[in-house]
Amino acid sequence: MTTVQPRHETLEALAETGFAILRPFAGRIDPSEWEGLTYLDWQSGGDTNFAVLASATGEDDPRGFWEHGKPDKAGVWTKNVEVAPALRNWVTSVGAPYGRVRVIKLQPSTDLASVTGRYLHQDDNNRLNPEGAGWVVRSWLNLTDNPDSYMVLREERDDPSTEHHIPLPAGAQFVVDTERLWHAVYHVGDAPRYAMITSFESGPALKAWMDANAAS
Ligand SMILES: [Fe+2]
Repeated sequence: MTTVQPRHETLEALAETGFAILRPFAGRIDPSEWEGLTYLDWQSGGDTNFAVLASATGEDDPRGFWEHGKPDKAGVWTKNVEVAPALRNWVTSVGAPYGRVRVIKLQPSTDLASVTGRYLHQDDNNRLNPEGAGWVVRSWLNLTDNPDSYMVLREERDDPSTEHHIPLPAGAQFVVDTERLWHAVYHVGDAPRYAMITSFESGPALKAWMDANAAS
């Protein structure tokens, strides 16, 4: 039998399911840190706007880092971060190399069928990421309290038997291999849901942070 060597360094914690739910964030972040950001019209996974906290160049640019010839690493803080010091601190305290950092503002979903039928997608996190480097995955910090909303994850887009759900109360922290898993959020309620999404490079630092924040 031939063993295929992975082309990038990956995390054992994500090997089986492609995601890991961590302990909730224990700190408090003032809502002004996400409500005071400048949001751009950028559609992904529903009726969404994004505020860019770190981009490829430091400009307020929501596009992929590959547009600038970079893998999704070495993010540069944008002007937005001036009103979001605790969000910035959350990212840097992880200690792992980070790329794109954004806050998503997601309007309530119309219905679950449109989420699973239209919005499930995979991300393109590892374009231009050189072989041998750490596989880029994404972390979430849910900012608003949305305990009845959840992220839908599927290994196979059209196979509900491969589905998992991640609930989204305030402070929910989780890491997803979003290039592997199809994903979208089903958001109920009548107000937008806000969450910070950070691209991190797999490696010893991300592993240590995930171990330290493992759900008990
Ligand atoms: Fe995505």
